[in-house]
Amino acid sequence: MTDNVINLLIKEALKAREMAYAPYSKYLVGAALVVPSGKIYTGCNVENASYGLTNCAERTAIFKAVSEGQRHIDAIAIVGGPLIDDDNLETDGYAYPCGACRQVMAEFRPESGDISVIVAKSETDYKIFRLSELLPHTFNI
Ligand code: THU
Repeated sequence: MTDNVINLLIKEALKAREMAYAPYSKYLVGAALVVPSGKIYTGCNVENASYGLTNCAERTAIFKAVSEGQRHIDAIAIVGGPLIDDDNLETDGYAYPCGACRQVMAEFRPESGDISVIVAKSETDYKIFRLSELLPHTFNI
């Protein structure tokens, strides 16, 4: 994963976060993933008055990619945090993907290798993990 791709994914995740629909939790999340061809897909969290119907940003991005024919993800960047002020979407911490999203990511690992999971506060402040460290012993049929 080059620094250029990492920076681009974070930039796209920050942009996607601006679309977050989170009137209930007021916790806004954006995600951006890259597939082997280099194409990028983005997503945000989409909440519902029936809270359990909420879709996380990561799964929004993954389902967009898969519904357009993609089957493998090389890397995904995530940014998130509480809405403090409408005009300023600063992030105060790293937003780690929830367990459900980790399992969904695992379904679409590259043919060989692992998915890089980037949790970012900004383009210059981020951490990178392998999905296998975040979700060892994935459920498989
Ligand atoms: N959320 C995500 O978008 N991704 C995660 O990995 C964890 C949580 C969203 C769901 C909900 O809209 C808000 O964050 C607070 O839980």
